[in-house]
Amino acid sequence: RKVLLLNGPNLNLLGTRDPAQYGTTTLAEVEARVVALGEELGVEVVCAQRNGEGDLVDLVHGARDWAGVVMNPGAYAHYSIALRDAVDAVEAPVVEVHISNVYARESFRHTSVTAPVAAGYIAGCGVLGYELGLRAALQRYPWSPA
Ligand code: DQA
Repeated sequence: RKVLLLNGPNLNLLGTRDPAQYGTTTLAEVEARVVALGEELGVEVVCAQRNGEGDLVDLVHGARDWAGVVMNPGAYAHYSIALRDAVDAVEAPVVEVHISNVYARESFRHTSVTAPVAAGYIAGCGVLGYELGLRAALQRYPWSPA
């Protein structure tokens, strides 16, 4: 079984980008943690980061029948109908993760167009959210809660 860990625009800069919001853990460290948790849970975690909207759409399509997708869409969460439709189109449960508490920030971050079609949503838990997201995706909540 495979799970896709997908990070969107600007998340390649994790570790140095706005540490007050996103902390100092790098994307490579985040990916290593989630891969390790995957090994523990018996799934192969495949990691990808892209800045482009279409690339993210393609990667979601590629994981259509996987065990899950843990996705931080970055700013695309706030307005990308294309990414929303991709999430809606696939069988794989997609868990949306935001590192920061978007509701404590600018009002344009309070809307997510992808969240209504996601299987679950985690925000404001820092990079721990990615590990929580993996556990949640594997539960396939709400279709077959553990
Ligand atoms: C983010 C929140 C978004 O509003 C922002 O555009 C990001 C990161 C987060 O992880 O908190 O790029 O998705």
